[in-house]
Amino acid sequence: MPAIALLGAQWGDEGKGKATDLLGDRVDYVVKFNGGNNAGHTVVVGDQTYALHLLPSGVITPGVVPVIGNGVVVDLGVLFSEIDATTARGIDCSRLVVSANAHVITPYHVQMDKVGERFLGNRKIGTTGRGIGPAYADKMSRLGVRVQDLFDEKILRQKVEGALDIKNQLLVKGYNRKAISIDDVVAELLSYVERLHPLVADTTLLLDRALNDGKVVLLEAGQATMLDVDHGTYPFVTSSNATAGGACTGSGIPPTRIDRVVAVVKAYTTRVGEGPMPTELHDADGERLRSVGAEYGVTTGRPRRCGWYDAVIARYAARVNGVTDFVLTKLDVLTGLERIPVCVAYDVDGVRHDEMPMTQTEFHHARPVYETLPGWDEDISAARSLEDLPKPARSYVEALEAMSGAPISVVGVGPDRDETVAIRELV
Ligand code: GDP
Ligand code: IMO
Ligand code: MG
Repeated sequence: MPAIALLGAQWGDEGKGKATDLLGDRVDYVVKFNGGNNAGHTVVVGDQTYALHLLPSGVITPGVVPVIGNGVVVDLGVLFSEIDATTARGIDCSRLVVSANAHVITPYHVQMDKVGERFLGNRKIGTTGRGIGPAYADKMSRLGVRVQDLFDEKILRQKVEGALDIKNQLLVKGYNRKAISIDDVVAELLSYVERLHPLVADTTLLLDRALNDGKVVLLEAGQATMLDVDHGTYPFVTSSNATAGGACTGSGIPPTRIDRVVAVVKAYTTRVGEGPMPTELHDADGERLRSVGAEYGVTTGRPRRCGWYDAVIARYAARVNGVTDFVLTKLDVLTGLERIPVCVAYDVDGVRHDEMPMTQTEFHHARPVYETLPGWDEDISAARSLEDLPKPARSYVEALEAMSGAPISVVGVGPDRDETVAIRELV
């Protein structure tokens, strides 16, 4: 049976949490395959709002098995606090499964993230400060600590010693900070073992069996295409693969078993942190998108940078992910605008680019080429089919579909689960 990848087409916060929740009733497993608690996914159900960071959004749907895949970096303190807080609100987290191969974010990763950013000065990335980059750096350097290492104290100590060897020298001699105690780190990690052990499994085997048994598996990305370490606006990216390829490596589900790739895309563009964003607005329109769209980070509370829809990016996301369906979110936020500009291409030093430019320098120089579409005034939050939308809103959706490289199958007209226009089934 099918595996479905669900990911972000822009710079994150497209509404992946809501999209996962929408599919919740029709899926059996929801797997987080990349990132860690840098993510912030909002799920609104009636008068309840849930903000999830490390738990897959599928945990909200009764009966779904949430899985933290091997591609995730796990801060165990954050994991257990989130489980406790979510359980206290009446959500059953007891089915959660964690991959034995997932890497662990330790206190030294968080410290290296924060100190590293401070020392980068005006070259900083604007990370979430959660230790994500240093944890993935250790993974690639083969200095990481994996979940399974916590079950062998001798091995754990060796790995922590190995990881801290150079880092402590750097902290003391390079960054003028105190050295981190190996004993303290080992003791903290061991304190989680009793709670962690029953959750841990060989998740690639589990998911293979689930697919063989006809179950539906949803692979839910954190971050997004333009924050992907390979395909995003490097170096202003996160440190994992948030694109469709990452869904395979981060879960152990092979590409031949994924038959649908759903990309969530906002009806305009936002970005948190540093890095280029061609359609960014520094005027009243940008301020309006931020206030009407409530564009403040779920994880760090930072105001999100806002701008018009960028079809070059949507086409790029369609291409590198093999998108079969777009979920277009937050169309309601545009209600009341007289005219809505949409970026259809870039002008790079006088040359028109219809596709993502090849180099970082060109992308930094990219100026949006806009087409302007008519707006609408009517409240659209009660629309449930395309026919319910005022004509200009429907034309906006159709224009975006024509320029974005894949069909739009769902349109969001409000944060609640019900505030959705369904065009085509996703599962
Ligand atoms: P994620 O990280 O991709 O899961 O997205 P976030 O939760 O960080 O940000 C998306 C925000 O938009 C959340 O506050 C959602 O409740 C909200 N949202 C999602 N879809 C819609 C929509 O169609 N309309 C409106 N107004 N809000 C939406
Ligand atoms: P969701 O899953 C938006 C951004 C940070 C920073 C860069 C690197 O909610 O869409 P990191 O801490 O990952 O090393 O930071 O990536 N970033 C996000 N922006 N949404 C997210 O997640 C993000 N996760 C990381 O702001 O620019
Ligand atoms: Mg988010």
